[in-house]
Amino acid sequence: MTLDELDTPALVVDLDVMEANLQAMQQRVSARGLKLRPHTKAHKIPALAQRQLSLGGEGICTAKLGEAEVMADAGIMDILITTPIAHPIKYQRLVALYLAHPEGVFCQVVDHAEHVLGIGKCAVAAGVNVELLIEVESGQQRCGVALGKSLVDLIKLIEATEGVSYRGIQAYSGHLQHVQDFAQRQAQARAAVLPIFDFIDNQLLPQGLAPRVVSGGGTGTYQAYTGLGFTEIQAGSYIFMDAAYRALASRDNSRQNDEFSNALKVWTTVISHPTPERAVLDAGMKCLSIDMGMPLVEGREDIRYQSGGDEHGILHLAEGEVSLTIGQRLLMLPSHCDTTLNSYQTLYGIRGDEVVQSWDIAGRGRSD
Ligand SMILES: Cc1ncc(COP(=O)(O)O)c(C=O)c1O
Repeated sequence: MTLDELDTPALVVDLDVMEANLQAMQQRVSARGLKLRPHTKAHKIPALAQRQLSLGGEGICTAKLGEAEVMADAGIMDILITTPIAHPIKYQRLVALYLAHPEGVFCQVVDHAEHVLGIGKCAVAAGVNVELLIEVESGQQRCGVALGKSLVDLIKLIEATEGVSYRGIQAYSGHLQHVQDFAQRQAQARAAVLPIFDFIDNQLLPQGLAPRVVSGGGTGTYQAYTGLGFTEIQAGSYIFMDAAYRALASRDNSRQNDEFSNALKVWTTVISHPTPERAVLDAGMKCLSIDMGMPLVEGREDIRYQSGGDEHGILHLAEGEVSLTIGQRLLMLPSHCDTTLNSYQTLYGIRGDEVVQSWDIAGRGRSD
């Protein structure tokens, strides 16, 4: 099929660009002496996770238990679930994941005694052992236990609780991924985690509580984490990139972050052109997320996208610009790849104008 034959709105990925992004991140992280544990929340497709593993990935991350179930059912056996879970229903499901895949190496992030005791109780009843990674506060003020006695107590509790074991620490500074200036982003990312490594060296190590694994970092901050004590990087968005990441400054502080290129696009149609300056697309916020700003029109910097609600995207043409035609197709560059992808059931792989592949987005909507 050609792109022209594909109905819209459709989610497409440039296969060559995606492959270049995948290889570049693996090489850059390996060159820093770190492991890459790709965060698959960006794509939710087992086949793409397999590709990341075949390039050298040290297992994968999923944000949610539901995503992990999808990945494990597809045969991926080394999964870190990076968001804490709470409630016996979830603890039972976590244990069921172990029982369904006895060869699996799964790890759950926690930040409170409640999690440890709840998971431990279910694990003992099922006769399994659940590995835990403790999320530590690293500036985002989302989940994460504070450094100090509460962290030491939590590690000791895991060590003393049957059915669970202590793997290490997660420190993900999500609030710093999009700091505009490259040098500032790197400096802030290091500053946010330095106290954690100081605490490990001076408090945890002497007590025999040092982490085996320290996991963190994203597409915006991975470069800051050389030589600090991280063992693995959890970056995810680099596979696709998006307009929000591209709009950051690059290493030489030029305007555009060109470390990775935009691979993910949304194929759309102009459905209306009420005035010469205003056209309307068949892609509103149900298929082009706007939580990280507005998407861009590929190759048309003169056109500005404005949300027209759930189903419509309004295009503003600069004065004097050639108008669009009704039925014309446009490729849009999403501002945020994760939330855009989650609205689609299928991802089409394109090479030039040819649609050469498609994948079911098996983890789509699995925020449970
Ligand atoms: C805990 C965690 N780790 C890693 C990532 C991946 O970061 P990025 O997509 O910026 O590479 C995210 C993204 O939200 C995350 O929440």
